[in-house]
Amino acid sequence: MSPPVLSVRDLSVIAKTDQGPQTLVDRVSFELNRGEILGLVGESGSGKSMTCRAIIGLLPSSRISISGGSVILRGKSDLTHLEESDMRKVRGGDIGMIFQNPSSHLDPVMSIGGQITESIRYHHQVNRAEARNRAIEILHQVGISDPAQRIDDYPHEFSGGMRQRAMIAVALACNPEILIADEPTTALDVTVQAQILRLLMDLREKRELSIILITHDLGVVAQVCDTVAVMYGGRICERGPKREIILDAHHPYTTGLIDCQPSGGSHRGLVKTIAGQPPSQGSMPTGCAFHPRCAHATKECAQTEPAAVDYQPNHMLACHHPIGEINEGGRA
Ligand SMILES: Nc1ncnc2c1ncn2[C@@H]1O[C@H](COP(=O)(O)OP(=O)(O)O)[C@@H](O)[C@H]1O
Ligand code: SF4
Ligand SMILES: [Mg+2]
Repeated sequence: MSPPVLSVRDLSVIAKTDQGPQTLVDRVSFELNRGEILGLVGESGSGKSMTCRAIIGLLPSSRISISGGSVILRGKSDLTHLEESDMRKVRGGDIGMIFQNPSSHLDPVMSIGGQITESIRYHHQVNRAEARNRAIEILHQVGISDPAQRIDDYPHEFSGGMRQRAMIAVALACNPEILIADEPTTALDVTVQAQILRLLMDLREKRELSIILITHDLGVVAQVCDTVAVMYGGRICERGPKREIILDAHHPYTTGLIDCQPSGGSHRGLVKTIAGQPPSQGSMPTGCAFHPRCAHATKECAQTEPAAVDYQPNHMLACHHPIGEINEGGRA
């Protein structure tokens, strides 16, 4: 069997603060296979974006750094040890990234086509005409109609949905194997959101693209993901195949998130929001970070951090008192 396209092992990120180092991402592990869509979910501040920024070596400030773990690309290079010049080749070349707000990531004074061809020519030895033809083809693939006419347009001449398509085109310009999409549909209306998700699924189908999709919306996860990792307080608290996470979650935080969805399982109770606030930086609870909000918490939860256990080969859980029956046959 071929190795995972991306293997993240115990990745940790810390911030230097006046109060000392604070952990933003805590021993995060997951694998991403070819053509797989992994959903990274959790409330705002849980560490989803920081995890992905660490993977591609784009941490937001010099006070924030990777403090441990590895990010193995195709079973070979550990990205956490690459020089910035090599990392620049990985970004775009192997891993593309798109964000919630295309306007702040597209260059407003460069044409859409110029931004795509710039990336193609940075990574590949092709002449201007070839790069332009490739750019037209990519714009066509991401669903821009009449791409030969629109290629010289500037971002402000595109609608919000088209700008998001254009950002995907820039990210895909060099045919990366992995796309990291950080809340790519959050700012879009429902119809355009559905179109962009459809596009991501098409790209997975046609290019065997592997996608990490960050979202706080479990409806999006249910629609497009194969695997789901749920983050809380910088840690992954449960990870498994989508079906198991949506229909048979065992972590109280996961079940809480599911119950908060408009179409959530009402059999779990009438709770529509998880009471309390997520932990903020610098005030991480002891033991299980979720214990102040957890209806199942015991003294043990407040004192001892639950270990992350693969109780089935591909279902990981970090909880002292999981909900529901657990088949521990595959417990590691
Ligand atoms: N630029 C930054 N400097 C310091 N801390 C940050 C910065 N950006 C985010 N954080 C902190 O890192 C943690 C994780 O944030 P983030 O990954 O952005 O969460 P999410 O994407 O899940 O909403 C939060 O505690 C947040 O306050
Ligand atoms: S470890 Fe305890 S507090 Fe944490 S989620 Fe499980 S039951 Fe709740
Ligand atoms: Mg984020």
